[in-house]
Amino acid sequence: MAKLNGDALGKIDEIVARHRNQAGPCIEMLHEVQNELGYIPFEAMEKIAEATGTSVAEVYGVVMFYSQFTTEPKGKHVINVCLGTACYVKGAQQLVDRVEKMTGAAVNKTSADGLFSLDATRCLGACGLAPVCIIDGKVYGNALMGNSFTNELRKIILAERGAKA
Ligand code: FES
Repeated sequence: MAKLNGDALGKIDEIVARHRNQAGPCIEMLHEVQNELGYIPFEAMEKIAEATGTSVAEVYGVVMFYSQFTTEPKGKHVINVCLGTACYVKGAQQLVDRVEKMTGAAVNKTSADGLFSLDATRCLGACGLAPVCIIDGKVYGNALMGNSFTNELRKIILAERGAKA
């Protein structure tokens, strides 16, 4: 496991101190650490457990329960492909295959160069637009029709990797 730098540890300390005396602080702290660092390192779980008087195992259990928390750093760009039933029926697997091929990131993993993460998600609540994908927070409905999703992804890949893409 890679060591955290002083900046990251300082941010974790600040978040833990800010929520220490609030009700239900564990989730708040985890949300802030996730937002700040992009993932929840083990050191953060240790500090949160100590501050809230719980065990690291309990904090880890919370992290594993909620799909928005992750224990691994994400890539610079995150692509979510919905694999809910409506999206799956409308061809979401083709999108997964396409994103894997284009970015080099396997499902729920990050590409070797750290640029792209491909996350399979549950229903995003936009089934009428199936299949649905998200690139860096921007939603693309009917992602197999037209080229807007693929073109946007291609543009980002070109900008990041240049002619090697
Ligand atoms: S199944 Fe994909 S948005 Fe609902």
